[in-house]
Amino acid sequence: MLLVVALLAAVLGFTPVRAAGGVVVQMTIGSTKATINFKAVVLDQPPIIENGRTLVPFRFIGEALGAKIGWDPVKKTVSYVLGDKNIVLTIGSITAMVNGVETTLDVAPKILPTGRTVVPVRFISETIGAKVDWNSSTRIVTITMAATLDVGIVLPTKDEPRWIQDETRFNDALKTAGYSAEILFSQGSSAKEKENVEALITKGVKVLILCPQDATAAAASADEARAAGIKVISYDRLIRDTKAVDYYVTFDSIAVGKAQAQYLVDKATGTKNPLYLYAGAATDNNAFLFFEGAWDVLQPKIADGTFVIKNSSQAVALQGKATLTRDEMGKIIGQVTTNWDFTIAKNLAEANLTIAKAADKGNVFILAPNDGTARSIADAFGDDKDVKSYVITGQDAEIPSVQYIIDGKQSMTVLKDVRTLVRDAIAAAVDYLTGKTPEQTTTYNNGKIGVPAKPSVVVTVDKSNVKAALIDSGYYKASEFTGLP
Ligand code: BGC
Repeated sequence: MLLVVALLAAVLGFTPVRAAGGVVVQMTIGSTKATINFKAVVLDQPPIIENGRTLVPFRFIGEALGAKIGWDPVKKTVSYVLGDKNIVLTIGSITAMVNGVETTLDVAPKILPTGRTVVPVRFISETIGAKVDWNSSTRIVTITMAATLDVGIVLPTKDEPRWIQDETRFNDALKTAGYSAEILFSQGSSAKEKENVEALITKGVKVLILCPQDATAAAASADEARAAGIKVISYDRLIRDTKAVDYYVTFDSIAVGKAQAQYLVDKATGTKNPLYLYAGAATDNNAFLFFEGAWDVLQPKIADGTFVIKNSSQAVALQGKATLTRDEMGKIIGQVTTNWDFTIAKNLAEANLTIAKAADKGNVFILAPNDGTARSIADAFGDDKDVKSYVITGQDAEIPSVQYIIDGKQSMTVLKDVRTLVRDAIAAAVDYLTGKTPEQTTTYNNGKIGVPAKPSVVVTVDKSNVKAALIDSGYYKASEFTGLP
């Protein structure tokens, strides 16, 4: 619900007064002393009783409950918008509108001789979803609005700077708008991921934003969330083999692979350039998309002799095929996977270099799937005396890799502006909370259904544009780096 308030805040330009969490409001008949969450506040008009009904200052009750308040001096109406509730009361009338439907009040709102407007507290509070208690001996009215958790976010691991970027950007976005959301990390474990999802289901989230550790293993969590009536947004990585995915927030991952491969192609001259291929985790659908995009660009250049694959017999066996099936890609990925793990990446690169002859080294070209693995692989190639130069790809624009690019140790990265992904994820969540459907430009087949998505563009970054793309754009502070060009 707070998310909706925040959305309205963004659209209508007001700031919700209530932070995420529950609220308790207490007022005493005839007194200007009141409390919000047990903190004293002073009312400009004491609550009054009329026909046995309590009337309270219209602005105060709305703000205390986090609603957007409106006053139309021409129509003499007051309005409250909170979550999916839109309430309009007319001064002096017992007819009110709730979401466009007429309702009869037992007491009309009124403007007192003091000029203050008062409204029936029970009607407003209960319609908004709060509970009202009346103590006739103390003459205190207590309004309680339970805490709700609108959105649960589950990210794969804190061990890669990429996902810390996402956490930071989510926190920034959530803080400014006052959303009610919680971010949990799965630390590379599908079991932990499932526990996280179950904890969020128990807390009553309405939307789950899940970046799966293992695409297929996550299907069970998505199914559980769907069964609990929760909307499931697959974040960055696609949850596979289940119908229980409502939306996919993603970058154009095929374009990532193409950008990496195009960079290698653009830097290569002559023929027989040694090419080393590395891939992400086979449990991550993105690893296939990245590889598919890269293969699309590299294969013709392998076929024409520009590149010679040096570290995958499976890729060599398939090098005549312009398009690979998922199974075929699986065979190559199985041989050159880093599992998104820096240590595995380094060990694999070292093993490849140990087997390779000096003639297979020289000026080499390396398809590294992301920044973390690129740094490990670059270190291994950099340490090999037979490697004269290397061109190596990456993705994520992680801070350590941006420094590697500045220092000439990594050639390029693909910037996936996480702020865009976070904004898209929050926008999709808000759409679901307000009964709308997020914008879709395409679908991604997850093995069971075509999941609606609107992929975001990616940007190639190397030394020549690192400052413009990452510093001047405000993505990072210059102070994070040394030796910026
Ligand atoms: C993400 C990449 C990330 C990789 C490893 C992929 O699914 O799209 O940005 O580098 O996982 O965590």
